[in-house]
Amino acid sequence: MTVDLVLKDGIVVVRDRETVLSVSIDRGKIEGIYKHGEEPESRKIIDSRGLYILPGLIDMHVHLRDLDQCEKEDYETGTMAAAAGGVTTVVDMPNSNPPVLSRKVLDRKIESASAKRYVNVGFYAGIPKSIPIFERSIVPNILGFKVYPHSPLTKGTEYTKKRIKDCLELAKENDLPLLFHPDSSKKDDIADDQEEFFSIHSCESEVSSLQAFLDAKVEYEARMHVCHVSCAATARLILKHRAEHTLTAEVTPHHMFLSGGDFAHDNGVAKMLPPLRSPYDSKMLSQALCQQCAIDCVASDHAPHKESEKLAPFLEAASGIPGLETTLPLMLTEVFEGRLMWVDYLRCCCSGPATILGISNKGILAEGYDADIVLVRKEEWQIKGAHFFSRAKITPFEGRRVLARPITTIVGGEIVYSNGRFVIGPGIAGRVPVRKG
Ligand code: NCD
Ligand code: ZN
Ligand code: ZN
Ligand code: ZN
Repeated sequence: MTVDLVLKDGIVVVRDRETVLSVSIDRGKIEGIYKHGEEPESRKIIDSRGLYILPGLIDMHVHLRDLDQCEKEDYETGTMAAAAGGVTTVVDMPNSNPPVLSRKVLDRKIESASAKRYVNVGFYAGIPKSIPIFERSIVPNILGFKVYPHSPLTKGTEYTKKRIKDCLELAKENDLPLLFHPDSSKKDDIADDQEEFFSIHSCESEVSSLQAFLDAKVEYEARMHVCHVSCAATARLILKHRAEHTLTAEVTPHHMFLSGGDFAHDNGVAKMLPPLRSPYDSKMLSQALCQQCAIDCVASDHAPHKESEKLAPFLEAASGIPGLETTLPLMLTEVFEGRLMWVDYLRCCCSGPATILGISNKGILAEGYDADIVLVRKEEWQIKGAHFFSRAKITPFEGRRVLARPITTIVGGEIVYSNGRFVIGPGIAGRVPVRKG
């Protein structure tokens, strides 16, 4: 037989060991993994000597801003950033303008993403104030529900015990995870100075809001996922809950690798929610991810804003930083410097999010899986926001030394990006929407 593509003689990680192998791709799927000389005939060959052949990242937490905030980012620039960062699947949050609370808005997003995509794009929905008006026909096109108790998508929604239970029930009935931003601050908690900002969005506030959801959840056993865990205490609470119940959680690279003290905070360069914490918290989050199994996966929380919104004085600046082009280099630097095992990298960046989302054909480099692959070179370089494909070019990782660079990104068997260039146009590779199954 003749296959579409062979990635020849690259480095494949098999049971935590680096092994030289070739990966063949046919009709969008991984056809097989072969020893040198045993590869099938192929219409195209990529000489992958010296490059790692890895599953593309699945980033289950991004804000691509399409519809009415395209000056910050849109599906084209956002998925270009993903492809250039070795991320082959992204899942877009519903706090867009307009927010995803209806079929009409979701359909507009699907249409826009279909035309502009360079990678696979999945979606979450918010939950309307009145749950009976939720349109069930959107369920097959979403991968979960997202709630922001501190900043609801619909004005005036209060996360009372009843509301929390109703949201958990909706998620359970539809067999989808309820994703949750832990923060118990109130809309009218306005900070007058920086100190107050950090105390409003404190670790105590993160822990207490999670506790309120967990108290409701024990009665319902709905699937719940905690977004961007930022505090050691939150990781401890998750671990305790997981002793008896199911619960999943994510951590961002910035909460693991940066702490608040590293920044002067005279503008918004390092402003995000949840905020950066202490060096102790960041150290404990890395341990929670790779030693304690309190945390299942890494997500970037890619949250682009305009330059003027980031360079404003701290209190006025927008919260959120770009992350799609820094996750892979930062995480693989941990592997190459011996702080993270390959198995943990593959679990937290690829297979873990696929399992949480129920997308069973992705996240693993093995026969029969979707050919969503990134070729990576081990090479020292420095992160420079000016080189991002994202419209958001301000990053708190500016100048950071990293040891891995995505070279070629393949989505559904199509070569999308190679050596700094896009080799096909938008709307060709990848699936929109990504569905469960
Ligand atoms: C996110 C955004 O800008 O949409 N901001 C952030 O600081 N993380 C919202 C969010 O993830 O809560
Ligand atoms: Zn959030
Ligand atoms: Zn938020
Ligand atoms: Zn977010």
